[in-house]
Amino acid sequence: MAVIPGDGIGAEVVAAARQVLDAVADRHHIELDYTGYDWSCQRYLSQGSMMPADGLDRLRDADAILLGAVGWPGVPDHVSLWGLLIPIRRTFRQYVNLRPIRVFEGVTSPVRGARPGEVDLVVVRENVEGEYSEIGGRFGRGFPEEQAVQEAVFTRAGVTRIVDHAFALARTRRSYVTSATKSNGIVHTMPFWDEIVAERAAGHPDVRWDAEHIDALAAKLVLQPERFDVIVGSNLFGDILSDLAAAVAGSIGIAPSANLDPTGTFPSMFEPVHGSAPDIAGQGIANPLGAVWSAAMMLDHLGHPGAAAQIVAAIEASLLDPATRSRDLGGTADTRGVTEALLSHL
Ligand code: NAI
Ligand code: MG
Repeated sequence: MAVIPGDGIGAEVVAAARQVLDAVADRHHIELDYTGYDWSCQRYLSQGSMMPADGLDRLRDADAILLGAVGWPGVPDHVSLWGLLIPIRRTFRQYVNLRPIRVFEGVTSPVRGARPGEVDLVVVRENVEGEYSEIGGRFGRGFPEEQAVQEAVFTRAGVTRIVDHAFALARTRRSYVTSATKSNGIVHTMPFWDEIVAERAAGHPDVRWDAEHIDALAAKLVLQPERFDVIVGSNLFGDILSDLAAAVAGSIGIAPSANLDPTGTFPSMFEPVHGSAPDIAGQGIANPLGAVWSAAMMLDHLGHPGAAAQIVAAIEASLLDPATRSRDLGGTADTRGVTEALLSHL
């Protein structure tokens, strides 16, 4: 697999994830081969680009990509995002962005009603089209009548496959899908989205579903997070909801994500939701659980669900003890302490 530690705490949490992967792979007789790439803002500053010109070709044959985080002060965030992450997601048609969220025992959610063990949901975000398109432009720059236009692009094929993915996933869980919409305000793309959701839902009579306007849904995620199972949304709605839900879970440091090409044509990419955290980078105190859980999702995707479940069980166990919880979760452990706890639980 390809490993891109990236910037800041990205490298620290990826190192921890590799230790955990090695331990579990050993027990399950899984052979893991890592190829590391130093693609990052550091590289941009010294060589002028986040990755080499043939970077995507080098990744193409990997079974999976494990990424830490990219971004660093002095390099504009759109450069790090569009110079590495977005090209990987789009070139490799990683059209599903999967973000599981749980409030674990031992973790205090900032939301009073979000009790440990009760909140367990997945945000399924469309990852390659929708609102994040390059179509549009600026007109009349510098004049008072200056305009900016950006087009959202929703395709029947694109909406169908993400909705199908959400329904199939729900079947393996509590069989309940909530679709994020805004068809009262966005009058072309969102009714189109809603129509396709209703069509595809008809093919899954065993899965309960509903649609909620994004604003009301955001409020419900805070007020009744335990109510949700699978939430499916467009690129923009899914992006916002998943960060909101990750905050409900107690710390962004725990939140994992997968960027999947479910067809298996291209490698899928696994990365914690958090960024490079320049404010704590280099101190050895980053919470590695987001990266470790992402690594578990990678094993699951590669066909090793037993090994993946063991990692998640180790995460659960480590969170029960404040001495093995990191500081962002009110504990006292540093990155190494959390990692050692995971290894001993494994
Ligand atoms: P961030 O996620 O890096 O940090 C936000 C806050 O959460 C900080 O106070 C940080 O210390 C804390 N935090 C994050 N992860 C943590 C962990 N594992 N353990 C303990 N505390 C943790 O977001 P921010 O500050 O907005 O962005 C910093 C840089 O990262 C920017 O350049 C941004 O563009 C980039 N970024 C990259 C992402 C990616 O590679 N997928 C995602 C988000 C941000
Ligand atoms: Mg985001």
